[in-house]
Amino acid sequence: MDLHCEYFHPELETLDRAGIIKLQLERLHRTLEHCMQSEFYRKRFAEAGIRPSDIKTLEDLRKIPFTTKQDLRDNYPFGLRSIALEDCVRLHSSSGTTGNPTVILHSKLDLEQWAQAVARCLWMVGCRPSDVFQNSSGYGMFTGGLGFQYGAELLGMLTVPAAAGNTLRQIKFFTDFGTTVLHAIPSYAARIYEVMCEQGIDPRRDTRLRTLVIGAEPHSEDTRRRIEEMLGVKAYNSFGMSEMCGPGVAFECKEQNGMHIWEDYYIVEIVNPDTLEPVPDGEVGELVLTTLNREAMPLLRYRTRDLTRILPGECPCGRHHIRLDRMKGRSDDMIILKGVNIFPIQIEQVLMQFKELASDYLITLETRDNNDTMRVEVEMQDVNLDDYASLQRLERSIRSRLKDEILITPEIRLVPKNSLPKSEGKAVRVKDLRQQY
Ligand code: COA
Ligand code: AMP
Ligand code: ZN
Repeated sequence: MDLHCEYFHPELETLDRAGIIKLQLERLHRTLEHCMQSEFYRKRFAEAGIRPSDIKTLEDLRKIPFTTKQDLRDNYPFGLRSIALEDCVRLHSSSGTTGNPTVILHSKLDLEQWAQAVARCLWMVGCRPSDVFQNSSGYGMFTGGLGFQYGAELLGMLTVPAAAGNTLRQIKFFTDFGTTVLHAIPSYAARIYEVMCEQGIDPRRDTRLRTLVIGAEPHSEDTRRRIEEMLGVKAYNSFGMSEMCGPGVAFECKEQNGMHIWEDYYIVEIVNPDTLEPVPDGEVGELVLTTLNREAMPLLRYRTRDLTRILPGECPCGRHHIRLDRMKGRSDDMIILKGVNIFPIQIEQVLMQFKELASDYLITLETRDNNDTMRVEVEMQDVNLDDYASLQRLERSIRSRLKDEILITPEIRLVPKNSLPKSEGKAVRVKDLRQQY
């Protein structure tokens, strides 16, 4: 690798528009061939009355029906695979035990491609083999763990797979191992700073931190600047999702002005989430992605539910891959708390399993001591509210069942029947009072 070269894959990163489109079309045809090995897509194409040979141009892609999270759930666990299971080497899965979670399968080649994409992103923001990279994402099923791990190793950095939690230990690693690059979700980066202050550690004076990679939850430009100021680093926005592998889908370059989405990996569409028609150039809509480099489980026109827009104009960095604006929210009711995705229905389904509980509940998200928290208030059936020991047992039991389901630990508050505020029309189930840093 030429350490002075700004690009990890110069020939791919600097492709001009014509080159990108040519490559996309070639890879789309290969992807369609893979898809025809999957029972799911064979059926989908037959139902839509189309054949892969009908897709001659990128515009023809619109003939293909969208793929949704529900499709992944309905075909749980392996219904969308395009290769034999013995050729798959890993799967990642979303949380949840009450309904079907989503599963994404990977072949060796898929993992290699994924690591290449992450390494490309990290190189783009100046990471080099001499860096020490610390990852505070959960390992295991969270793709931010292994995803960054393999990319950072491929780039050649010394990696510190610290994983989530234990903030004091994270900070000790910074000082002992000379961490220069940190991956953290924005709210956790702020938490790390608070704990540093409590410990009398000055990030500028006592650590070598200079680059922060932040993502996995929506955050504003203001938040980025404040975190940069706190930790004395440059912070780069990183976007990804398990369905598209994980991190490495779109990433800011040093210009910090929108995230380049790698068009040699994905075809991008932005559609109106209601009509599903393309929005005019530059307008906000739902991001729809088609994978171009995946063989175990390619996805065609996947509705991400993330709202964003394509930024107009060219980036001065020399990459022509389009740039996505910060995510503006979601077109569904998914909550992202501490980097964990949660659907309110998961919580409802757990609560409904307890016969002592009535049907009204309220989820409040708050920041306390720089830690994001969830409180679930739930109305009781007519039970004896004075029986303190039983109530405590019940609370513990609900908390534990919810932790199994959503992977974070909520606070449970049992309240008398009819005491939660009633809203007109559709019940308001989630109150988000989290602090914007
Ligand atoms: N990343 C890393 N650590 C986090 C975190 C985050 N997003 N959010 C909180 N933590 C830390 C807390 O600060 C706490 O450490 P400390 O007490 O030493 O400061 C520790 O994790 C436990 O947090 P707590 O709030 O008590 O636990 P929980 O049961 O509610 O949540 C986590 C458990 C934090 C382990 C879970 O939320 C998690 O794994 N989050 C990371 C998810 C992730 O990696 N997403 C990336 C996808 S790309
Ligand atoms: P997961 O599948 O658990 O990796 O979660 C993916 C989801 O996290 C995306 O669909 C987005 O909603 C959210 N997400 C990931 N990265 C970002 C980011 N940089 N900004 C805002 N939201 C993000
Ligand atoms: Zn750029």
